[in-house]
Amino acid sequence: MRLILVGFGHVGRDLARIIADRYRNRFKVVAIVTGRHGSLADPGGIDLQAVLCGGLGGPQGTTPSALEVINSVEAETVVELTPLNIFSGRPAIDHVEAALKTGKHVVTANKGPIAWDYERLAALARQVGRRLLFEPTVMDGTPVFNVARYGLRGCRVTGFSGILNSTSNFILARMEEGASTAEAIAEAQRRGFAETDPTLDVEGWDAAAKVAALANVLMGAGMTPLMVERRGITGITAADLAAARAAGETIKLVGEAYLAGSGEAGEPGEAGGSGEAGEPGLVARVEPRRVPLGSDLGRVGGTTSILTLKTDMMGDLTIIEHEPALMQTAYGVLNDLLEILGEEGPLWPKGKP
Ligand SMILES: NC(=O)c1ccc[n+]([C@@H]2O[C@H](COP(=O)([O-])OP(=O)(O)OC[C@H]3O[C@@H](n4cnc5c(N)ncnc54)[C@H](OP(=O)(O)O)[C@@H]3O)[C@@H](O)[C@H]2O)c1
Repeated sequence: MRLILVGFGHVGRDLARIIADRYRNRFKVVAIVTGRHGSLADPGGIDLQAVLCGGLGGPQGTTPSALEVINSVEAETVVELTPLNIFSGRPAIDHVEAALKTGKHVVTANKGPIAWDYERLAALARQVGRRLLFEPTVMDGTPVFNVARYGLRGCRVTGFSGILNSTSNFILARMEEGASTAEAIAEAQRRGFAETDPTLDVEGWDAAAKVAALANVLMGAGMTPLMVERRGITGITAADLAAARAAGETIKLVGEAYLAGSGEAGEPGEAGGSGEAGEPGLVARVEPRRVPLGSDLGRVGGTTSILTLKTDMMGDLTIIEHEPALMQTAYGVLNDLLEILGEEGPLWPKGKP
């Protein structure tokens, strides 16, 4: 299967390593596009080892844009790996749309298209008979959407809650151990999982994007991250954590959505929901919350994530991702690619990796 990689940062490079090491006979990368580090196209297949060692070459301006490449290069699948634009989902939405309109499948690790425009893009994918897959957008490579899609057939997801941002969870845990907020952020940055600008993590935006993506896909919410009631961890102090600990509790940044009036959580018609008081409607929020130390949420430390799906026939189902590494996001992309490959048949010579 021929791939166009749009974005070649941490995830793109990890994916290239996996393909070069183990899946050369299944996938052929025919184009790579970046923002500022050049682009490359080769219908015969790019030498991934050479690119991983030597880079792409060519400054921005002398190379085509992502849209030009998606529209002009022949391939079966576009892999969208550009950074999240939390305030619009673009340009990733445009990349996904162009790919589908030119008859290509899409796999995205970028939450933007799913958190901002899922309904329209999923309808477009159905219309053109192509797949839009996005497993790595929430909890990296851990199967979340696939559990709901394939493991809970006929079940209705009525809500979910969890700890979805590993950076803020790590920061809270380090603060509980005595580090200052600044020290905890600096450590997360040193260890490579917090951005240089950690605002999206600590102010709850990243978790809000995940809540919107989950609510859109699992509950048909048709919402955006701006519609998620959101409060981050910036106001949490060492004294707050100590007071919680003294009461046998801890503080976690919890993301959740539920149908108000369904009796799943909270009260009907709470602020942040789309429903009127007492009427069914979707409540979606991210907020720091005191939880018992011995509870599922309370036991999740470090960069571990947890998500509980509330369902009508299967009760509550909890998924935990233990201390993820970067490679797990690339695995999530690979998993989606293999699913498409299975459905497409042997577009590229078959064989065991
Ligand atoms: N890292 C993780 O563990 C993880 C986990 C789950 C989901 N994700 C999501 O996966 C995506 C990729 O993450 P990452 O860590 O690989 O990001 P990254 O290291 O920042 O890499 C982003 C890549 O996108 C390129 N890019 C930026 N704007 C572009 C544009 N307009 N057209 C084409 N390419 C463009 C960048 O090129 P330049 O460097 O040249 O600008 C870079 O190659 C993000 O949406 C992220 O939220 C990441």
